[in-house]
Amino acid sequence: MKVLVVGGGGREHAICWKVAKSPLVDKIYCAPGNAGIASVAECVPIGAMEFDKLVAFAKEKEIDLTVVGMDDPLVGGIVDAFEAEGLRVFGPRKNAAILEGSKAFSKDLMKKYDIPTAAYETFNSPEDALKYLETAPMPTVLKADGLALGKGVLICQNLEEAKAGVQELMVDKQFGSAGDRIVIEEFMTGREVSVLSFVDGKTIKIMTSAQDHKRAKDNDQGLNTGGMGTFSPSPFYTAEVDDFCRKYIYQKTVDAMASEGREFKGIIFFGLMLTEKGPRVLEYNARFGDPETQVVLPRMKNDIVEVFNACIDGTLDQINLQFEDNAAVCVVLASDGYPEHYEKGFEIKGLEKFAGCDDKFVFHAGSKFNDGKIVTNGGRVLGVTALGADLKTARANAYAATELIDFANKYKRNDIGKAIDEA
Ligand code: AMP
Ligand code: GLY
Repeated sequence: MKVLVVGGGGREHAICWKVAKSPLVDKIYCAPGNAGIASVAECVPIGAMEFDKLVAFAKEKEIDLTVVGMDDPLVGGIVDAFEAEGLRVFGPRKNAAILEGSKAFSKDLMKKYDIPTAAYETFNSPEDALKYLETAPMPTVLKADGLALGKGVLICQNLEEAKAGVQELMVDKQFGSAGDRIVIEEFMTGREVSVLSFVDGKTIKIMTSAQDHKRAKDNDQGLNTGGMGTFSPSPFYTAEVDDFCRKYIYQKTVDAMASEGREFKGIIFFGLMLTEKGPRVLEYNARFGDPETQVVLPRMKNDIVEVFNACIDGTLDQINLQFEDNAAVCVVLASDGYPEHYEKGFEIKGLEKFAGCDDKFVFHAGSKFNDGKIVTNGGRVLGVTALGADLKTARANAYAATELIDFANKYKRNDIGKAIDEA
């Protein structure tokens, strides 16, 4: 088989790496890919939103399966564009990717089908939002309705901050049209867990749990980022939590989408908060998480291409999804200054020390070739992942592995997986 993966970050590197392990696959292309992905796939200089070019490429190369990693193309209808040309593609259609593409949609869905989530109101004008905030309990949470690179969520401690938030999202349009509509939500507290799942329209199979660290600095200080590190499994995702979610969240979400005429095939990523009152859905994503994928896929036993095929064909009930009884930790090596201002273009040294390893990996998020060398090319540069028999061992292995890599403005958090010690 020939497989095309769409995207060019650490998540897509992990997907390509896992696809490369499938005996069904002879050749992998990745559009646009990056310098790390180039070690497992042929990178093609086509952007993820260039649907016509991607479709033409898939036809020309007779691609058997396209896998879409990123949210923007999914929400924009890339799956529909491929299917319209008779091409086989893994991911939700546009009418189902709205589960991630519109917070108002997903909140209304949860309300209608009684899926546990924070109480909320939706607003189409800043005036109505401001009026509501005058009597709203604080802290409160403001969310841009549309996609905002994971940055459209504002936690506001008081009325003043909330008013400034409405200004930022709805008036100044910091995230463009994503802020035409906002959701204002009850503030909840608790541990967060990311649960990824495969879905074939009817059946859902849950992957192992993970936890992300979104803030830039140690002890969850600093700005929100795309994710500074992950560990898997989450020790807080107990059998009891799992039972609750299976009963009240996972299958109910899949059935709700089907009932709405929006059959969901692909990945549903459940962003959960374990509150005192039980697990609640913080958000849905319609794709693999980044950097959750970098710790989940190295622990997955199945041939991922078989699972992709089962999702497309509606035969996921026949798949026995299995994960190793071990643990993984991913520490992101970023450019100092991320997520604000940072320099790039520095040579990355030490990558060869990971060649052929099956217990530690470097998934590239932002790198490129320059004069035959691999150089930094983004805020998040690499996701250094290591396995271990348990979480503490995996964490020690991952941090040891980060020492093997060097580049000029290398920055990392030093407390990825610290929560493990509290479990
Ligand atoms: P989201 O993109 O919806 O996952 O939100 C980003 C982050 O904001 C989450 O990972 C949480 O840390 C936080 N967050 C979102 N919604 C809430 C909420 N209702 N209460 C408290 N924190 C929240
Ligand atoms: N790690 C969070 C996300 O992928 O949205």
